[in-house]
Amino acid sequence: MARVLIIDDDSGVCRMLSELIRRMGHESDSAVTLRKGRAFLREENYDAVLLDVRMPDGSGLEMISEIRAEVSSPEVIIMTGFGDSDGAQAAIENGAWDYISKPVSPQNIMLVLRRVLQYRENLKTAGITQNPYRFEGITGSSSLMKTCLFHVARAAGSEVSVLLTGETGTGKELIATAIHSNSRRSAKQFVVVDCAALPQTLVESVLFGYEKGAFTGAENSRKGLIQQADGGTLFLDEVGELPLSMQKTFLRCLQERKFRPIGGSREISSDFRLIAATNRDPEQMVEKTLFRKDLLYRISAHSICLPPLRDRAEDIPETAEYHMKNLCENYNIPKKEFSPDFIAALQSYHWPGNVRELVNVLDRAIAEAHFDPLLFARHLPTKLRIHAAGFYMSPYREKDQKQGTAQKNGGFPKFREYRQSHLDKAEKEYLQKLMPRAKGCIKDACRIAGISRTRLYNLMKKHRISRLGWESGEGKE
Ligand SMILES: Nc1ncnc2c1ncn2[C@@H]1O[C@H](COP(=O)(O)OP(=O)(O)OP(=O)(O)O)[C@@H](O)[C@H]1O
Ligand SMILES: [Mg+2]
Repeated sequence: MARVLIIDDDSGVCRMLSELIRRMGHESDSAVTLRKGRAFLREENYDAVLLDVRMPDGSGLEMISEIRAEVSSPEVIIMTGFGDSDGAQAAIENGAWDYISKPVSPQNIMLVLRRVLQYRENLKTAGITQNPYRFEGITGSSSLMKTCLFHVARAAGSEVSVLLTGETGTGKELIATAIHSNSRRSAKQFVVVDCAALPQTLVESVLFGYEKGAFTGAENSRKGLIQQADGGTLFLDEVGELPLSMQKTFLRCLQERKFRPIGGSREISSDFRLIAATNRDPEQMVEKTLFRKDLLYRISAHSICLPPLRDRAEDIPETAEYHMKNLCENYNIPKKEFSPDFIAALQSYHWPGNVRELVNVLDRAIAEAHFDPLLFARHLPTKLRIHAAGFYMSPYREKDQKQGTAQKNGGFPKFREYRQSHLDKAEKEYLQKLMPRAKGCIKDACRIAGISRTRLYNLMKKHRISRLGWESGEGKE
C-alpha cells in the first residue's frame, strides 16, 4: 500500500482524489494550504504528492524541489487549472513527474498514479533508496535549504559543470565538497584552486604545469592542478578573480578537456569535472566586461545560489547546535547549552558573514562564558546585542530617525509611514527571495510573481536588487 499527499485549496477536489486513492487501495492525506502540506511532509513519508499550483499561500511550483528533497523523495504530480506551458516546463525542470491540467479526470489521475506507484514499487524491490546522498556537516531544514540540497543532489548525480553563487560564508566550499564526495568521482581527487589567492603571473603555471626549462627557475617539470584533477573534480574558488587573459585559455581547456603545459610540445588530456564558485554577481561581471560571457555560460550548466543565513533564520538553532558541539569537542570541554535569549538574539541578527560569522560568534561566546555551561545573550558581541535590542523596533525606526516624526509623536510613528515602511521592507524581502528562485531569469521572475516586466524592473531599481537577488553595496559591513 502506498501513501499519497494531496495539496489543493479546493476541499471538494481533495475529497474526490482521496476517495479515488482509497478505491485504488492506497492511503492519502489532504492539505488545503502549502503550510499544512509542509506539516504533513514533516510527519509522514509519502510516495507521491498531487500538488495544485495556485494556492492561497504561494505557488505549488515553488515547493517541488523542497518536496523532492524529503527523505522519501516523493514523486510530484502537478495539477493546474491554467495549463500554462511555462509552468509545465518549470515543473519538470524542478523535478516533477508529470503535469496534469484541471479539471482532472479520475481516469487521467488513476493512470498517472498507477505509473508513479509502479515505478516506486520497482525501486523498492530493487533495494534502491530514494535519497542516497549523504550531506555531512551541512545543516538546515528550512524550505530554502531543502530546495538548495535538492539541486546539490542533482548536481552530484550528474557530470555537468556547476556554478555556486552566494554571499561570503554561505557554504560554497562545503557544498562543492559535498557534490564531489557524492559523485561517481569521489574516489579521485578534489583539487581546490583559490583564484583570489593566486598571483596573476602564476595562474597559468599552477593550472597547466610546466616542462623543465620552460622559464628561468623551472629546474624540473611540474604537474598542473588540472592534471591532478584527472578523474576527479577541479574546484575553482572565486572564479570571478580569474584574469581575463586566462579566461580564454581556460575556456578552451574546458571545452576540449585538453591543455598544453608551459614549454610543452604536446597536449595532455585531463578528465576533470568542474565546480566553480563566486561571491560576486557573475552577470554583473559580464556586463562590466570583467568576465567572459562564453565562459560563464560554459561553467554554469547547473547553477546553484546558496541562500544567506538571514533568509533562513529557522535554521539558526540547528546550525548553532551543530557547530557548538564541534567547537566544544575540539576544545575538549563539555558542550555548552543555549538560553532562549541567546538563540533569539542570533535569530534577529542579519549575518553579513553568514555561517562563517556564526561559527566565529559561537567561538567567542565560549571564551566569554568561561566555565558557565549555559550561554546567554550577554555572552554575545556588543554589536550583535545592540542589533537584537533594536530588532523589535524596526523597520520604521531608521526612517523616523531621518524624518524626526517619531520624536514629534512621542516616539510613535504616523500610520501612513509605518505602513509604507513595512510595505517597502516586504517588497525588498520578496525580491531577494524571488530572484534566486527564478535563477536570475526575468521572465521566470515575472511569471512566478505575477507582475509585468516593467513593474519588476522598477522594483529592482527602487530596492537596488540585482538579478540574483543581491543588494548592491551589500557585504560592506
Ligand atoms: N549549511 C551549513 N551547515 C553547516 N555549516 C555551514 C553551512 N554553510 C556553511 N557552513 C560553515 O560555514 C563556514 C564557511 O563555509 P564555506 O567556507 O564553505 O563558505 P563560502 O561560501 O565558501 O565562503 P567564502 O565566499 O567567504 O569563501 C564553514 O565553517 C562551514 O562549515
Ligand atoms: Mg569559499
